[in-house]
Parts: sequence; structure tokens; C-alpha cells
Amino acid sequence: MAVFFILAACILISVAFVSYVYYASRQRKGQGHEQAALKLPPGSMGWPYLGETLQLYSQDPNVFFASKQKRYGEIFKTHILGCPCVMLASPEAARFVLVTQADLFKPTYPRSKERMIGPSALFFHQGDYHLRIRKLVQGALGPEALRALVPHVEAAVKSTLASWDGRVTSTFHAMKRLSFDVGIVTIFGGQLDERRKAELRKNYSIVEKGYNSFPNSLPGTLYYKANQARRRLQGVLSEIMQERRARGDPGTDLLGCLMQSRGDDGAPLLTDEQVADNIIGVLFAAQDTTASVLTWIVKYLHDQPKLLEAVRAEHAAIREANDGGRRPLTWVDTRSMVLTQRVILESLRMASIISFTFREAVADVEYKGFLIPKGWKVMPLFRNIHHNPDYFQDPQKFDPSRFKVAPRPNTFMPFGNGVHACPGNELAKLEMLILIHHLVTSCRWEIVGSSDDVEYSPFPVPKHGLPVKLWRENSSIDGKGCDSDNVEDIIV
Ligand code: HEM
Repeated sequence: MAVFFILAACILISVAFVSYVYYASRQRKGQGHEQAALKLPPGSMGWPYLGETLQLYSQDPNVFFASKQKRYGEIFKTHILGCPCVMLASPEAARFVLVTQADLFKPTYPRSKERMIGPSALFFHQGDYHLRIRKLVQGALGPEALRALVPHVEAAVKSTLASWDGRVTSTFHAMKRLSFDVGIVTIFGGQLDERRKAELRKNYSIVEKGYNSFPNSLPGTLYYKANQARRRLQGVLSEIMQERRARGDPGTDLLGCLMQSRGDDGAPLLTDEQVADNIIGVLFAAQDTTASVLTWIVKYLHDQPKLLEAVRAEHAAIREANDGGRRPLTWVDTRSMVLTQRVILESLRMASIISFTFREAVADVEYKGFLIPKGWKVMPLFRNIHHNPDYFQDPQKFDPSRFKVAPRPNTFMPFGNGVHACPGNELAKLEMLILIHHLVTSCRWEIVGSSDDVEYSPFPVPKHGLPVKLWRENSSIDGKGCDSDNVEDIIV
């Protein structure tokens, strides 16, 4: 009898289960019919498995994106690096993904890269955790903090130019060093001793080299070495945090802000490991981006002698007002560099070093009658928008005067848009203003070799990082002359 009841119960449970599965599948099919009305965007998914990865990497990626846009319009599908993707080349679509429907699209990075930077770094996250960290980072990079950073950035710029004097150097490498130094002073507030700084620089550069290499655990490979160096970085940062705690003074710089952050219950918001992830994340976000744009600025100014003269005149006036450069630059000085501000904006547009960003749809999403399926990557194409003649007339022409008028909303996004937009954008621009000031008032430079080809490291920069011979001038740009003692004052 008992056996009969068990059997009957089993049959009932099975019938219930099968009915549920059938019902659920009908429900899904019903939804499918609704979704069936939506079509995928036009485009080509390429070869099985490979997709269009080879096409993307066998040519200039910008040509790939531009030709797709020409063929399919402002929204198209493709398949790259093993992922189906929807690419969006209109300002409205970029705003949809990054701003108005941002909660439907999460940031997405390969796991190996997340592990290398640190999984708690803010740009991997969405929601409450992301917002809290973002507020802290924005605070440490806000106007008050930037004012205080001006002398530090100026010292770093002078030191970069002094070490370049009379030599041929890759501009990109020199600019990487500068943006690393500025990153360090932003994070540690000028309190870091040289030994620690050298340790961070050395290990960070090993991490960088392995970042884009094939993930594996074989000793001796770039990836393996990068992982080891990442651990050492964590160690150095932990020591610094412990020392600050032992002193009873966590500091007011970015590191101090992260260390002191508290949750609603008053308990520390972040562990030391999470703080380290975010510090390494900020260094990572700050260095190559800023260095690439600075490199393009050196080229653009070089290539346009008339523009360079006009920029020189703007800075000569500021230098004159600063007692011929004897007084340091101030925040107010940097706000008066009107033409230079436009040169920077135009360089950001022309170079568009971040051609696109990645998100992943967290649900099926409809956009203008097209389906963006859940799990697909979504890529707003900043560069296509910045180079579209509908928004920027004669887009291949370097013309800072176009920024006399503000660009149309959502057409200019060198620093992204929405909740993940770059919190370091004002710092990056400050660095550019100060570099340009000293470059044009106290140096001359020549590009060595051709600068027309582009390489990706990983952002686009002129080939070989733009080798440049630079020398400090002995005569003042205002023609009144400037003796070498003065030059030594300027270039510390
Ligand atoms: C010219 C230089 C720079 C450019 C072009 C640039 C560009 C960008 C862009 C486009 C994003 C958004 C990415 C996305 O939405 O997926 C971003 C995010 C970010 N940037 Fe920058 N950036 C620059 C410099 C800096 C600097 C100097 C710092 C810090 C000191 C910084 C820190 C960050 C951080 C922390 C994020 C992530 C923000 C978040 O997820 O909430 N960046 N940057």
C-alpha cells in the first residue's frame, strides 16, 4: 500500500512538474511572439565563433566602425571577441544607454582584467556601492582639491620638461611619466616618499605590461609577472594605510577619503583590499588616457604653426603677469587660458582616444523598434559621433574655434556620459593646461620622423609614441630675452 502511495505521489509530482515546465515554456513563447515583432539591428555576425574579430583587428578599428555605420546606419550588430554586440553611433542612442536607461546596461570587462585591476574598483560596479565610491572619488577630485593640486602639477610638468631637455624622447612615454606623477600626488597628496613612489611605479608598469596579455598561470609569462606585481602593489598600499592609521592621520587626499569612508551604520565602508582596488583603478583610469591626449596635443600644436603662435601669445601674457614666470601659476591663471581650453577640447574630439565604451544589456531592451537581447554587449561609439559632419562640420579639420559655441547636447563625450562619466576630467584638463603653458613659453620642439601613422597602446597615439626632440629656450617668447638663470628657475 505504502508503495502505491509513493508511486502515486511521484506521478502527481511529475505531472505537476511537466505541466509547470509546459506552462512556463508557453509563457516564454508568448513573450517571444511579442519580441518577435522586434527585429535585431542590421549588420553582420561574421564567421562562426570568430565573428568579425579579424576584420576589426586587421584594419584601423575606426575604419571598421565608420564603414559599418555607412553601410547599416546608426545602430548595427556585429560579433567580436566572442560576444554578440550592438553598436550605437547616434547621440540619442548613447544617451539612452549611458544616461536615461543606464540601469538596463551594466559595465562589463573580461574577468581577467577585473582581477588584475581589482574587482572592487568602482568602474566594475553599478548601484549603491558604485555611487558611494564615486562620491568619494569625485570629492577628492573636486574644485577645492584641484586648486590645491596646481603647484604639484606644475612641479611635475617642469620636472618632465627638464628631463627631456636636449634629448629625443617618445612623447607618450614622457607623458605617461607625467600623468603617473600627477596620479600619485592626487592619491597620496604629495606625502609619498621617493622609495615608495619608485616601488609603485615599477610594479605598476609590470601590471600594465601583463594587462593585455593572454591570461594564464605559467611562470615567466607577462600575465604571471603582472599578477605577482599586482600583489606587491597591494602590499605597498597596505603598508601605507597601516602607517597612516598608526599616526592617527589618514589624510585628506584620495587615499585618506577612501580610508575614512563609513557606511550608514558607522562601520568602515571599505576594507584595505577594496581601498587598494580603487586606488589602482584610479591610477589605471588616469595614466594612459591623459598621456595619449597630451601626446596628440604636442603633435597638433607642432603641425599648426599659426595656432601655436596664438597659443604662445596667450601664455606669454600670463607669464608676463606672473613676473616673467618667477611666480607660480595659479588656479585663476588656468581659468584665463581661453584659447588653450578650446585647443584641448578640439584635441579630445579629434583624437577621440576612447573610441567607444562597453556595456552589457541586463534584460531584453527595445530601442527604436530594434531588440537588444539580454547579455549582448552594447557599445556607444564616441568617435563616430565626434567625427560625424552633422554635428562637427568638416570633422577632419583641427579647428579649436568650433568650441566657441557649445556642441549640441550629447554629441561631445570624450569623458563619457551619465553615472560612469569620468570623475577625473577636470584634473586631466588642468594637467593639459599647465603642460601647454610651460611647453609653449619655455620650450621648442621638433618631431623626429613621420608622425602620420597611428599605433594603439592601447589608445591611439602617433607611431612610436611621437619621438620628439625638445629643448629649453634661452630667449623669452615675448622677445625681451630671458637669461639662463631664469630658465633654471622655471625648470626645476
Ligand atoms: C584625457 C584623459 C581622460 C579621458 C579621455 C577619460 C575618459 C573616461 C571615460 C570615457 C570614462 C567613462 C567610461 C565608461 O563610461 O565606460 C571614464 C571613467 C573614469 N575615469 Fe577617466 N578619463 C581621463 C582621465 C582620468 C583621470 C585623470 C582620472 C583620475 C584621476 C580618471 C578616472 C576615471 C574613473 C575613476 C572612471 C570610472 C568612473 C565610474 O565608473 O563611475 N580619468 N574616463
